[in-house]
Order: sequence, then C-alpha cells, then structure tokens
Amino acid sequence: MRRKVIAGNWKMNNDLKETQNLISKLSSGLPLDNLNCDVIVCPPFTSLFEAHTLLKGTKIKLGAQNMYYESSGAFTGEISVAMLKSVGCEYVLLGHSERRTIFGETDELINNKIKKAISSGLKPIFCIGELLEEREAGITENIIEKQLKFGLKNISSEEIVNVIIAYEPVWAIGTGKTASPEQAEEVHKFIRSLINEKYGESISQNIIIQYGGSVNSKNAKELLFQKNIDGALIGGASLKADSFIEIIQAT
Ligand code: PGA
Repeated sequence: MRRKVIAGNWKMNNDLKETQNLISKLSSGLPLDNLNCDVIVCPPFTSLFEAHTLLKGTKIKLGAQNMYYESSGAFTGEISVAMLKSVGCEYVLLGHSERRTIFGETDELINNKIKKAISSGLKPIFCIGELLEEREAGITENIIEKQLKFGLKNISSEEIVNVIIAYEPVWAIGTGKTASPEQAEEVHKFIRSLINEKYGESISQNIIIQYGGSVNSKNAKELLFQKNIDGALIGGASLKADSFIEIIQAT
C-alpha cells in the first residue's frame, strides 16, 4: 500500500505574517502525532526558515518551489540545495509548468536540477503534464513520455526512489477545470507503466504519483480514490487552512 502524499504549493503567495497565520492554523487543525498521509508545504523562499521553525514538533514537512543545480557562485537570484537544506527543506518542486512556460525551463535544465537535488539529499517532486492543445491533438502520452524520459535521464534505480512524480495537466492548473478521475487515472497508469519499463515492477509499484490541477476539498476524495493516484499537489486550495485540511482528511 502506498502512503498518500499531500503537498501544498503556495506559489508566489504569503509574506511572513501570512505564513505565520497559515502555519499556525494548519498545525492546530491537524493531529500532531498521527497523520494518515504525508503532508508537505512549499512556501516561497522568504518564508522557508520561519515555516521550518513553526513546523517543529508537527508532522508537516517542508519543501521549496525551485532551486539551481550549481552549488554556489555567481548565479544572481538563484538558491542552492545547501541553502534550502539549511532552512529545513526536505523536498523541492522541480519542473512545474509555470517554471517551464513562464521561465522557459527546459527538460535538460530540470534534469540537472533533479540530479543535483537527489545527490545532495533533497527529494524532488518532479512535475509533468500536457498543455490543452497537446491533449486536444491527442498527444498527451507522447508529451508525458518525453518529459519523463528527459527529466529522468541518467537517474539510477537507487536514485529514483527519492523522487515523487506529480502529474499536472497544464489546462487544469489554476483554471478550476480538473481532469476527471478517469482521465487522471489513465495518465497515472501510463506513467507507472513507463516507470515499470525503465526501473522494474517493484520501483513502479512503490513510486508516488500525485495529481495536481484545481484539486479542492470537493473533488479530492474521488481523485484520491483512484488506484494509481497517490496524493495531490495543491495550489489555490492550499492557501486556506480549512480547505487544505479537508483535502488531507479526504485521504
Ligand atoms: P492549482 O495549482 O491547485 O491552483 O490548480 C496546482 C499547482 O500548480 O501545483
């Protein structure tokens, strides 16, 4: 049985004060010692240290939304893995569609980041997903296959066990349009079959594949009920303690 993983991607939201408010509501609303799923929050960089301090003693884990693959040096505006680890991060979102489309991140760059994260002890949540026109053109599987192939290039069996995959159809992100549970399940099953081809049965059965894209407290249960959906990556609905807690409870 795979344990479900619920992650909140706060994106460019919540200053320090708002971070303190949201974390305090989350930690008082969730049982401290016994959660039936793993919970991760990914605040913006400026809130990571504060979030880490406030999350001590809770079961909620911390993730960052991005990083660079070099260790240090003249990379103005970038953040290294060591910096993220020093403020308590265990996870990092990589390959998010907003990074790909707005900031022009390529599969090759994402692959370099994934390799660096794993070798330095940070667990990547590796996001993949097709655009609306790609789904309409019937090439969803080709896109998913390509993103997985290049994103996971030269990632060994020992390394892949540290990776969470998040399937996020781009047309469902922040739009209120969720993939139907059946549509999502179909792609999740396909992703698991590709992992099976590359890494074998045992790894493919254990790897966590989250769904993301307009998940909320109303649709979460049905999505999370699907055989190959092992959790959710949540944007908008993770910004309100009540809805995030309801999604966690839906597991
Ligand atoms: P959304 O975002 O839940 O607001 O659609 C999900 C994501 O981008 O990770």
